[in-house]
Amino acid sequence: MIKKKIIIAIDGHSSCGKSTLAKSLARELGYIYIDSGAMYRVVTLHALRNGWIKNGQPDREKVIEGMKDIKITFHWDENTEKNTTFLNGENVEDEIRQLEVSQNVSPISTIAEVRHQMVKQQRENGKNKGIVMDGRDIGTVVFPRAELKIFMTASPEIRAQRRYLELKEKGQEVEFDEILKNVEDRDTIDSGREVSPLKKADDAIVLDNSYLTREQQLQWSLERAKEKMEEENES
Ligand code: DC
Repeated sequence: MIKKKIIIAIDGHSSCGKSTLAKSLARELGYIYIDSGAMYRVVTLHALRNGWIKNGQPDREKVIEGMKDIKITFHWDENTEKNTTFLNGENVEDEIRQLEVSQNVSPISTIAEVRHQMVKQQRENGKNKGIVMDGRDIGTVVFPRAELKIFMTASPEIRAQRRYLELKEKGQEVEFDEILKNVEDRDTIDSGREVSPLKKADDAIVLDNSYLTREQQLQWSLERAKEKMEEENES
C-alpha cells in the first residue's frame, strides 16, 4: 500500500527545541525539513549587513526593496547531519544564529511584505507534502490544512538556559540574563504582532517539553504522525 505523505507543522515559542524535534522527525520519516525561522534570520542578516537597521528599527522600505536580491536555500550536510542555510550561495548558518541577528529578527518578521514572500516560498517547499516545517505561523497561516500540527512550549527560564548552553558551546561570550531578556522580548513581539502572530491553531496538539528528553519528544511526535498517516491512508 502506498503511504500518503502528510504535512507536519511545528509552531511555538523561541528556543523551545522546535528545530531539533522537526529535524529528527524529518529524518525518521524521510521527509524534507524546513526551518522557517532561518529564512527570517537571513533577511535580518542581509538588512544588518546593509545598515538598514538602526537602534533596532528596520528601514521598512529598504528591507522590502532589498528582498529581490536575496535567494535563500537549504542544504542538508550528510557529514555534520546539519541543515545549512545559504544566502545567495554563501553559507550563513553560524552567522544567522548570533545574538545580534536574534535581537533584530522580530521587528523584521513583523513586516507584512517580508512575511508574504516567505510564506510563498514555504508553500512552494510543501507542495508535494512529506515535509516538516517549524516556525510561528506554520499551522495557522502557511499550512492551515496540515494533517499534524504541534504547538511546542516550555518556560522562558528553561528555554533561555538551553540557548545559553548552545551559544557557550559554540564559544560565544554571552550573559544568561541577556539571553533570558531576548527570549522574553521575542515572546512579546511574536505573540503581539498584528500580522500572523504566534498562536496555537485550534486543531494543534500542545507539547510542553520543559521536562521531556529529546527522545521522549521524538517518540511522542512519531506516534502522533503515524496516527495521522493511518487516517490519511484510510480516507
Ligand atoms: O525560530 P527562530 O527563533 O529561529 O525564529 C527567528 C524569528 O523569526 C522569531 O523571533 C520569529 C520569527 N519567525 C516568524 O515570525 N515566523 C516564522 N514562521 C518563523 C520565525
